Amino acid sequence: QPVRLADYSPFGYLIDSVELFFTLDPTATRVKSRIKFRPNPEATDPRFFLHGEQLTLISAAIDGAPVSPDVTEYGLTCPVPNAPFVWEAEVEINPQGNTALEGLYMSNGMYCTQCEAEGFRKITFYPDRPDVMAPFTVHIDSDLPVKLSNGNPEASDGSLWNDPWPKPAYLFALVAGDLVAHSDHFTTASGKPVDLNIWVRAGDEDKCAYAMDALKRSMKWDEEEYGREYDLDVFNIVAVDDFNMGAMENKGLNIFNSKYVLASPETATDRDYAFIEAIVAHEYFHNWTGNRITCRDWFQLCLKEGLTVFRDQQFSGDMRSEPVERIGNVLQLRARQFREDAGPLAHNVRPETYIEINNFYTATVYEKGAEVIGMLRTYLGADLYRAGCELYFERHDGEACTIEDWLSCFEEIAATDLSQFKRWYSQAGTPKVSATWTRDGDTLRMTLSQQVPPTPGQPMKEPAKIPVSMGLLAGDGTEILPSTLIDLDSPSVDLNFDLAELAGGKAPDHVVPSLLRGFSAPVILDAPLSTQDRALLLAHDTDPFNRWEAGRSLLREMLLEEICARDISAAAEARRRLVWQALKDFCADASLDPAFVALVLTFPSEDDLTQATVDAGVVPDPVLISDVRTEHMRALGSWMQDTLMDFYNAVDPDTPYSPDAASAGKRALRNTALSLLSNPDNLDLARAQFDGATNMTDQLAALSVLIRDGDRTAAKAFEEQWQHDRLVMDKWFMISVASAPANEALNAAAALSQHPLFDWQNPNRFRSLMGGLVANPAAFHDPSGAGYTFVTDWLLKMDSANPQTAARMSTAFETWRRYDADRQGMMATALDRMAATPDLSRDLGEMVARMRAA
Ligand code: ARG
Ligand code: ZN
Repeated sequence: QPVRLADYSPFGYLIDSVELFFTLDPTATRVKSRIKFRPNPEATDPRFFLHGEQLTLISAAIDGAPVSPDVTEYGLTCPVPNAPFVWEAEVEINPQGNTALEGLYMSNGMYCTQCEAEGFRKITFYPDRPDVMAPFTVHIDSDLPVKLSNGNPEASDGSLWNDPWPKPAYLFALVAGDLVAHSDHFTTASGKPVDLNIWVRAGDEDKCAYAMDALKRSMKWDEEEYGREYDLDVFNIVAVDDFNMGAMENKGLNIFNSKYVLASPETATDRDYAFIEAIVAHEYFHNWTGNRITCRDWFQLCLKEGLTVFRDQQFSGDMRSEPVERIGNVLQLRARQFREDAGPLAHNVRPETYIEINNFYTATVYEKGAEVIGMLRTYLGADLYRAGCELYFERHDGEACTIEDWLSCFEEIAATDLSQFKRWYSQAGTPKVSATWTRDGDTLRMTLSQQVPPTPGQPMKEPAKIPVSMGLLAGDGTEILPSTLIDLDSPSVDLNFDLAELAGGKAPDHVVPSLLRGFSAPVILDAPLSTQDRALLLAHDTDPFNRWEAGRSLLREMLLEEICARDISAAAEARRRLVWQALKDFCADASLDPAFVALVLTFPSEDDLTQATVDAGVVPDPVLISDVRTEHMRALGSWMQDTLMDFYNAVDPDTPYSPDAASAGKRALRNTALSLLSNPDNLDLARAQFDGATNMTDQLAALSVLIRDGDRTAAKAFEEQWQHDRLVMDKWFMISVASAPANEALNAAAALSQHPLFDWQNPNRFRSLMGGLVANPAAFHDPSGAGYTFVTDWLLKMDSANPQTAARMSTAFETWRRYDADRQGMMATALDRMAATPDLSRDLGEMVARMRAA
């Protein structure tokens, strides 16, 4: 029974107010509701259906008179007056038994909620759809010392909360527990004071300072960059250990996976700090893009998510290094979204049908959704983009909107037609842009063409509107054409460049195009650049993204030659020398940001190389890919030893830890050097670093190298040191499998699944172990099929407790068509085994069916 975008119709009733009364009990919580409904003049369907799942109905009444609704597994229907009326109901629920972590559940003795997307229906009967908005009042009866809900507190003991801003049920939240606060204050631009609290378990309060600082910076940034102020007296954040996703933007009461709140230098890495900053900002920014203006239906999810990811990326770019952040975002986009878009799970940024909406909280909706906003801004320019946003906030405040509502604001402000641009929302698949050029005297004739590949259900595509930012470099490295925006809005576009005019004199003998600068569109670029051309871009491009891209493609081509053809010819050898020299020359530029250098020296991942192998028309061998990658890292590491040692020694490891981007960048380069310098015969550096490390970034980097290169003692020492700390042990579970040599990783995973600390129902722990194996492709794709069996067994076990987490992890199988017949057969068998399991969840069932169908 798929849900379809085309079937949207408004609910038959509007809600003037919601009052909820909770009497908390671990296994028998009572929830009373008093809801004021009135007929919706804009609706045509008068049926009164309230969602409700896993609820025991105790009583119901309309205008005080008891009623006996028709109750099914999914909700209830009841005859109602054709006039305003008051609905009252009481239900009983079991938070302790809620292992799906959706609705009201318990985590370490604390009550908490997760309602997006459709969890509120597990709390009480309600029209659980985002276009039904209402102000909420919440009463909480519990002996627990801290009780929180949305909005402003109306009692000093936390027993009464009022949220004046109308909101959909998915933004409802309630927390009760024995918690302590890390508190602070913020004054908004218009002078309104706001109390800020981060609530954690006792003992964790000294790990909240960074998240709090990130929150205050986010509040200020949104005022300055988008003119958005906070709108309640308090802003609460709660850290929870058992959480299906990263965090949740409940109005005035954000709930976070504790890994995205808690940080200390000893326990959190630089990466963790960066994530905390980005996610705190993301959830805060939702207050306007998501909460004040929400989605009409779940097909519009990207309206809030794509936009809010774009906003958090802008924020991180402003707080840190813009090019380094951009490169990081593109690495993620390619690793997760391009992978999704190239396989059976490909879907539109705005999907048109789903069975389980939780399956669409994807890289496509989030990250490609953010790229679409970025392209809109590129086309309009910063000023019109801001003006369009202002119009959107002004016009749609308090409403539940669509992508059409969003785009019309920009069409009006810029007096432009965005209908072709809108195809980014309705066509799945990553467009391919091919560039070709020839020299005709002093003229460079270039053709850019595009092709959007077929995806499930979409065999034919219309041309997309693709912003291609480009420049031209002369053979001596000087830029003769600065960044220029080309609008590739048809199957192909021809361009002519007068090189003599551009160079201001004689046309250079050789020119090198720098295409798709800043990664101006989420496309795959195919450009016939020679090894020398790429080396020139690495050395001289004025666009930092393309400098990095040139270095990365040099590394990738070098590895591919060997992966695809085992090419060890003299020509390949000469090209390899050229690549090495280009990287070494690049490293000699002392003015470069260490974080940027670290990115250039980081080898493409095994998954990246696997896709590149497929794109080259060769069947990938995961073991070969892993071996070639390791060999090349060692070879480059020993050839560049002096340079790398200089990088390594440039950081004094005793400098007091600071999480800022500049310090993190120095550590990133030092640890990248460590990884390249180390090998099984040379582990002294890593051992010394592991033993002497005073922060988790350095300790974990050393541990990863030691595990990779066969040291078995460090992991044991780490375990002993950190067994009391969940978040650190999550890292240990992950790295013990992800970094292990391929021939040991499967055994390691099997042993760890029996470890006393493998609390499989904790999503973080489960993801650490399963994700660790999947992140080690040579082990997961072991020719015996044991990796597939292991993950499948655990997915099925998890599915019976927590379908959402099982379904997300099942994307490990989305690439099954890439491989040889044996592996394809075994992966298909694994998918079929899941499909044939009795009582499989709707979540995992949909994922498996989609993966198998295409
Ligand atoms: N809206 C949240 C965020 O992006 C994600 C929560 C989604 N949760 C879920 N179970 N689908 O910040
Ligand atoms: Zn979000």
